[in-house]
Amino acid sequence: MKKQQLIIDTDCGSDDAMAIAMALHDPGVEILFFTTVSGNVDCHQAALNTLTTIEYAGTYEPPVYEGCRDMLLRELVFAHETHGNDGMGDLGYAPKRLQIAPGNGVLKMLEALDAHEAGSIEIVTLGTLTNIAVAMRLAPDTMRKVKRIVAMGTAGLGFGNVSPVAEFNIWQDAEAAKIVTEFGVPLTYVGWDACIDDAMLNEDEINRLRDSGPLGKFAVDCNRQLMLLNEQRFGRPCLDMADPAAMAAALHPACIAQCDDYYCEVDTCPGPSYGGVLVDIYHFSGKQPNAKICSKLHVQEYKNYIFSTLGA
Ligand code: RIB
Ligand code: CA
Repeated sequence: MKKQQLIIDTDCGSDDAMAIAMALHDPGVEILFFTTVSGNVDCHQAALNTLTTIEYAGTYEPPVYEGCRDMLLRELVFAHETHGNDGMGDLGYAPKRLQIAPGNGVLKMLEALDAHEAGSIEIVTLGTLTNIAVAMRLAPDTMRKVKRIVAMGTAGLGFGNVSPVAEFNIWQDAEAAKIVTEFGVPLTYVGWDACIDDAMLNEDEINRLRDSGPLGKFAVDCNRQLMLLNEQRFGRPCLDMADPAAMAAALHPACIAQCDDYYCEVDTCPGPSYGGVLVDIYHFSGKQPNAKICSKLHVQEYKNYIFSTLGA
């Protein structure tokens, strides 16, 4: 059967790293290349972290291209408190052999879409949507060839993680998210609510991953900062893995428990609800849906997918 052809756009911090390692080990997937964007860390550090992850994954080695360093309008905030200053737990991870490929990630994305038949490439985004928005503005007809975009982003049908209503990937560049949400290609947002509560990795599951071998140990250890943060928040080690949830929903749809079509509107107004995504559940707007919102996973199916792809 033909493999899913993917471009993965990432702000590679530690949960991105786990998701990328999972995708590199999924036999039904061909990752054409990675593009990086600033978010957790700047796009250059995100590229270095992606290369490190590819080396640890030990399978094939798609090129990694840097994309946009700056957001469309917003100042960069980074998420060092969550992922560490280097985005990978500040444990000194660095690529030993691989190098960042020459060329701009946004232009490489457009080149690939131009060279492939329409509907053959999917884009999975794990960070801010800046690269995607710029590509849509640069070459809308080319971007309409995308089969679909699966984005880790929005608060889903729940609460935000950087404000009561906003999730980080949207909030860091809501103007970009507005462009992408209103563009008109098939779009699935995997919300923050899909990766919390019983979908979080508990202490036993973390130990199972860590003890399973070098890749599982890397996937856990690079999330060290998040684990420390969660011990303060929840009083126990646990991992809310937003990007692995999005990757699982994109590559293993059997783990999706709730995913419905809604008209969504991104709030770009300065103020307390900036970066929130209004999900028009009761059709107040009368407008046609423009996105799917995946808000819940079949937890054991999801966790089994993490374990099976990471060899745990
Ligand atoms: O809100 C969680 C998202 O923001 C994840 O993708 C995490 O890596 C950060 O990018
Ligand atoms: Ca991310």
